[in-house]
Amino acid sequence: MRIYSRILGTGSYLPENRLTNADLAAELALQGVETSDEWIVDRTGIRARHFAADDQGSSDLATEAARHALAAAGISADDLDLIIVATSTPDMVFPSVATMVQNKLGTAGCPAFDVQAVCSGFIYALTIADAMIQSGSVKRALVIGSEVFSRILDFQDRTTCVLFGDGAGAVILEASDQPGILATDLHADGKYKDILCVPGHVNRGGILGDPVLKMDGQAVFKLAVGVLEDTARASLAKANLTDADIDWLIPHQANIRIMQSTARKLKMSADKVVVTVDQHGNTSAASIPLALDTAVRDGRIHRGQTLMLEGVGGGFTWGSVLLRY
Ligand code: ACO
Repeated sequence: MRIYSRILGTGSYLPENRLTNADLAAELALQGVETSDEWIVDRTGIRARHFAADDQGSSDLATEAARHALAAAGISADDLDLIIVATSTPDMVFPSVATMVQNKLGTAGCPAFDVQAVCSGFIYALTIADAMIQSGSVKRALVIGSEVFSRILDFQDRTTCVLFGDGAGAVILEASDQPGILATDLHADGKYKDILCVPGHVNRGGILGDPVLKMDGQAVFKLAVGVLEDTARASLAKANLTDADIDWLIPHQANIRIMQSTARKLKMSADKVVVTVDQHGNTSAASIPLALDTAVRDGRIHRGQTLMLEGVGGGFTWGSVLLRY
């Protein structure tokens, strides 16, 4: 009998400090950087984002999200066989955020590691956890996307600093004979590394290169809409399903125009797309589990519905997870 990975519970966490576009525009104006609510809403759909406090790292956000997911699943941290954190903004070069989360949750022993695939990170992490559950080696997995992108933004660059926010989302997966994750699809193409990157790195006690986000927005946009359609179709084909079987599309929350365009290509109406980019901005690896948890908690997503989760991000990386909730 096939072993499926089923979502037992979801959770999320947003830092307290919420900035509307007007708040951010006022702060940027003090530094001589001009932007407006109108420009940001019109080009991206973003209205607000949360920024972590100075003493909060990815592991703190991830731990809060994990606590909510564990409570929703009705299990304790000691019941976990695996912890994976998707992040591009770890607390330290090493150890991993996942081991820090494990310790903050007051447990020890199970494997814990990070996955770095930028905005596709949660899709990658979910796929790895699913494979480990299907192999029979793991029964319960905690999978988290957590980011503090505010730490790697250049607040002199208005073309990027208005787009991102901080946050974390988590799911608990459990082995089950009921579906479950139905199909997964992952890809990468390293030749696109320069269109979205943070080129700085630690070198002999200092930072070499520029440790802030650089993006060619139009190149990213063009690539994203193409690969998001392709990967959704690939997962559907693997599960022998069609566009019409999807109840909810939960895409990476980068830009409302990318999401609308993907929905159109999949012949889905806009009201079947879970949108949180307006309130969260782009939280990279955290955006999909944050959107999922939002729609589970507000009652939109019901047990038995079919969800298409899909992401695209730096690398370039992209992929999708099709599941029965
Ligand atoms: N406020 C006001 N004006 C701005 C701002 C701002 N924050 N940023 C740029 N502008 C100006 C530019 O200077 C330019 O002015 P000019 O015409 O006088 O030179 C004008 O707006 C247009 O700039 P463009 O960069 O051409 O704007 P575009 O329409 O391409 O929109 C955007 C930029 C929103 C980044 C778009 O390219 C996009 O959505 N790209 C997708 C990238 C994305 O979402 N990335 C997220 C990370 S990647 C990921 O998560 C997959």
